[in-house]
Amino acid sequence: MTRDDAAQRLSELREQIRHHDYLYYVEARPEITDDAYDRLMRELVDLETQFPELVTPDSPTQRVAGTPTDVFKPVEHRVAMLSLDNTTTPDQLREFAARLKRALPGAAFSYVCEPKIDGLGVALVYERGRLVRGATRGDGRVGEEITPNLKTIKSLPVRLRGRLAELDDVEVRGEVFMPRAEFEKINRQLEESGDTTFANPRNAAAGAVRQKDPAATARRPLDVFLYHVSLADTLGFTSYWETLEALRASGLKTNPRAERCADMDAVIAYCARLEADRDGLGYDADGVVVKVDALEQQRRLGATAHHPRWAIAFKFAARQATTIVQAIDVNVGKSGALTPVAKLEPVELAGVTIRNVSLHNEDEVRRKDVRVGDTVLIERAGDVIPYLVQVITAKRLEGAPPYVFPDRCPACGGHAARPEGEVYWRCMNAACPAQLKGRLQHFGSRRAMDIEHLGEGLVEQLVDRGLVRDFSDLYRLTVEQLAELERMAEKSARNVVTAIAGSRERGLTRLLNALGIRMVGERVAQLLATHFGDLQTVADAPEDALAQIHGIGPEIARSVRAFFAEEENRALITKLREVGVVTTQERAAPAAHTLAGKTFVVTGTLPTLSREAARELVQKHGGRFASAVSKKTDYVVVGEAAGSKADDARRLGVKIIDEAELLALAAG
Ligand code: IVH
Repeated sequence: MTRDDAAQRLSELREQIRHHDYLYYVEARPEITDDAYDRLMRELVDLETQFPELVTPDSPTQRVAGTPTDVFKPVEHRVAMLSLDNTTTPDQLREFAARLKRALPGAAFSYVCEPKIDGLGVALVYERGRLVRGATRGDGRVGEEITPNLKTIKSLPVRLRGRLAELDDVEVRGEVFMPRAEFEKINRQLEESGDTTFANPRNAAAGAVRQKDPAATARRPLDVFLYHVSLADTLGFTSYWETLEALRASGLKTNPRAERCADMDAVIAYCARLEADRDGLGYDADGVVVKVDALEQQRRLGATAHHPRWAIAFKFAARQATTIVQAIDVNVGKSGALTPVAKLEPVELAGVTIRNVSLHNEDEVRRKDVRVGDTVLIERAGDVIPYLVQVITAKRLEGAPPYVFPDRCPACGGHAARPEGEVYWRCMNAACPAQLKGRLQHFGSRRAMDIEHLGEGLVEQLVDRGLVRDFSDLYRLTVEQLAELERMAEKSARNVVTAIAGSRERGLTRLLNALGIRMVGERVAQLLATHFGDLQTVADAPEDALAQIHGIGPEIARSVRAFFAEEENRALITKLREVGVVTTQERAAPAAHTLAGKTFVVTGTLPTLSREAARELVQKHGGRFASAVSKKTDYVVVGEAAGSKADDARRLGVKIIDEAELLALAAG
């Protein structure tokens, strides 16, 4: 890059960063993720390092961030509130340890780790134990006074206890944040009143802290963790750990997950553990802050203009990202429901490439006002399916038209309509091949007839070539027919035929679920199967007989009735019987509800039961089967190679049992 090119790029970067600083600090409405911002900043720093003569006094690197608003009184921090240097890998953490060793040869280091709260840095001044002033971090040098708003934080004492209360003047620092539960509550309220929701708890907290009326802040409950005391060494503390203890003793809240780590291996283990637990924290943490424990070492290591040399942040994988909507497609489900899906410019999120997100239904598209070409914020938390948080409207291309839902089925071109009172548009053509494909796929899915190898590609070909027109056709397929299909050798054709044949005896519960009757999932299928014992009897049952079954309401009864009122569906029963599918089930007295009211979670591999079998056992005996451990879990069933769920159980005091104990409980 020439000097001229560099000058040009530097001025662009500075302009962009200033703009985002303004949105972030003054408007509290950022348009880009922290990651995207960090990338801009890193590019600026790199370029300025290459061309030091082009550094200007007003560059964001010289000031860290922009001007605080004049609504709140500016406060100059006595000691600058620095940032932290970042790492993202264990190797980088080891490099940090190596840097420490080089800086203080011969010294041994121990550390304190704590969650890096994704909130807002604040500085609080207590005079003789009374809270006299609280300020935001601002640009690190000058913040804004927000004392009345901070006083609304219930966990923040306005009077201290203990030793810190005796000091004439002490500054403590920490992070203000909004607990996830509060954030979700507020967003629900905003959504109900048709207002724009907050993209994340951090933005919600920033909005709350900067309310002009403290009463408004109080309605948006915040919380705080403290982690720094200005006079720690004057008080005779020798370690950061003691500082945390002193904060706690004076009534200030510190993070209960803070831990002392004897060496870098322990630090790395802590980081892995916390990242695995991050959904259970109740607040957003975007990483771990690793600090050298000995205060004397901290003093000798000192700081750069930007960050202390004795601390570093280990950043978790990002969960939010911005990308562009390239198109809005419509998928056709097994019941003909049309689901809009945003096709995205592919983007990496927490280690996975995201190419599309469901937009659920027409109302959702309208509420979020998603348009083709829009820049959108997407999120993927833990195992949760990625979703679209919001559109960044400021980046909308001029003239982008609002999305109009199609009134034709994209698969068959048939008429589509949105029935009164429903959220979904539906394809009204019963012969729509897309519906058949969806239904076939559901039929073969793991929780239904469990037909291995019946994947999307195969179903696609079977329908397109007219080999399968309804479920019963599956059972007539021959190895020769299948072997002619694409990507299908004779061996795999044989496997498919065997898998289909093996599904004949799955039983009535699975069959009823597999039929794809609206509102009939596993639970209802089971109720119907145990009550009637035979598919034909279910099909013949009048609506009131169905509605009388405990657990089946009038709506479900109507839906079952409507399904079997169709001549084609009644014919299907006969056809299934003809190809040898078992349509009955022993009406065995329902299993005793020995597990009623109890919630179970399974982790690891159990000696005899598969995960599905364990689920069936629990549900058959009236218990609930959950996938994540919470305080409401009664038992965690642990098998071999159990994962973090076993740790969760220990942490939450949930009873841990093995398979034998589960079987004993079920037996009563
Ligand atoms: S210690 C000298 N501990 O992260 C800097 N910071 O990226 C010491 N933060 O400005 C900071 N949780 O606002 C520290 N447990 C924690 C933190 C934490 C969040 C924030 C803080 C800081 C920013 C740096």
